[in-house]
Amino acid sequence: MPKLIKAFDRRYRLGIEKLDEEHRKFVELVNRLESSENAVFIELFPQLVNHIQQHFLTENALMAESGYSAIHEHIDEHQRVLDELNRIGEKVSLGSVSMGRTYVTDHLPNWFEHHAETMDSALASHLKSRGFALA
Ligand SMILES: [Fe+2]
Ligand SMILES: [Fe+2]
Repeated sequence: MPKLIKAFDRRYRLGIEKLDEEHRKFVELVNRLESSENAVFIELFPQLVNHIQQHFLTENALMAESGYSAIHEHIDEHQRVLDELNRIGEKVSLGSVSMGRTYVTDHLPNWFEHHAETMDSALASHLKSRGFALA
């Protein structure tokens, strides 16, 4: 089965080690979810939600620390996705695995590609300009 997201596609590389590492972990989790059977899927989905939540906190903190001008729209977008993930996560925990699978397969990869190439990439440029490249 082809991977949903190619982990090392350079389009997602931001050049901020911590963020790249967290994105790699996200990609790994999404790809594992795709190929997992239902019982494992139910176990893994909360890990994905938790990982994304932590990752958003990392980015949100970097935006605040570095005085990022587009902080509000980026944080709002993180919150929107988190709300969505929590809603789906509730259904998955009640046994609606197919709903979770549809979300992971049809929605998350496209969202990630778009978000990484737009909002995260703009944030990375800003962080580099402020000397956060090694953070
Ligand atoms: Fe990100
Ligand atoms: Fe982001």
